[in-house]
Amino acid sequence: MKHLLGIDDLGADGIGEVLRLADSFLEVTRRDIPKVPALRGKTVVSMFYEDSTRTRLSFETAAKRLSADTMTFSAGSSSLRKGESLLDTVRTVEAMGIDALVVRHRSSGVPQRIAGWIDASIVNAGDGWHEHPTQALLDAFTLRRHRGDNFAGMKVSIVGDIKHSRVARSNVKALSSLGAEVTLVGPPTLMPPDLEGWPVTVNYDIDEVLPTTDVLYVLRIQRERQSEALFPSLREYATRYGVTTERLARLPADALVMHPGPTNRGVEIDALVADDPRSVINEQVANGVAVRMAVLYMLLGSGEGRAA
Ligand code: NCD
Repeated sequence: MKHLLGIDDLGADGIGEVLRLADSFLEVTRRDIPKVPALRGKTVVSMFYEDSTRTRLSFETAAKRLSADTMTFSAGSSSLRKGESLLDTVRTVEAMGIDALVVRHRSSGVPQRIAGWIDASIVNAGDGWHEHPTQALLDAFTLRRHRGDNFAGMKVSIVGDIKHSRVARSNVKALSSLGAEVTLVGPPTLMPPDLEGWPVTVNYDIDEVLPTTDVLYVLRIQRERQSEALFPSLREYATRYGVTTERLARLPADALVMHPGPTNRGVEIDALVADDPRSVINEQVANGVAVRMAVLYMLLGSGEGRAA
């Protein structure tokens, strides 16, 4: 495998392989010196055209813990401001001699385009509404650490702004291919217009799904990706769909609460819920490093030299 553009690049077997590799890298991240020489001599560049805290730090930490050299490109302070095109920018970065490019962009399909232009491995770190494969992998990894290898029959409810969520798209693919049963929950205006072929059920009433949910996966309202008013107000949304302590109490006692971050406390999730012992939000972040180490190792660790 050369690139990771979406979950379909992996399939169920590939996902399993990433998760197993991530187990051993999680062990590495817990050592006193959390570093292995696996990618010594390789260069990993992160190229973020959209805001990010955890994804960018996580990829950079992962690359460093594998002993790769890292470079960071931030759109805000680059020659993009001087009018340079994406193609020219990417070719310039490639000319430094790089092995992998981790790309985030607000338009769907950009990582795929770049993969057609240069020789380096491309990792999609989130493209528009399309996909965010490493997020889905770290979510599956986090679930597996709690529930073991067997996802069959696990009931996952993804709640919120599904329409604009690349996290939801990648998670639907990953979790359903592992055997989980996914329900999408949210107002009709925040559902994708065409759900045909998606392996999901839809419910517009969060209170109906709570008692039978094993994993409540909460999403942020992605207002920066919305161009129209899709619900009356954030307060109204919070009342209808926000995960409050009352709603938390209606979940089975051993259910888990997940969120990809960043959270908007008081809107889609209450502060007390985010900090509840059943919430694994910080574990998701910690696991992200091990999972991204596994992905970078899979793409670059074959021992071959850089493509000419
Ligand atoms: C998500 C993203 O950017 O797609 N965040 C993340 O990577 N952890 C979700 C979001 O922005 O709400």
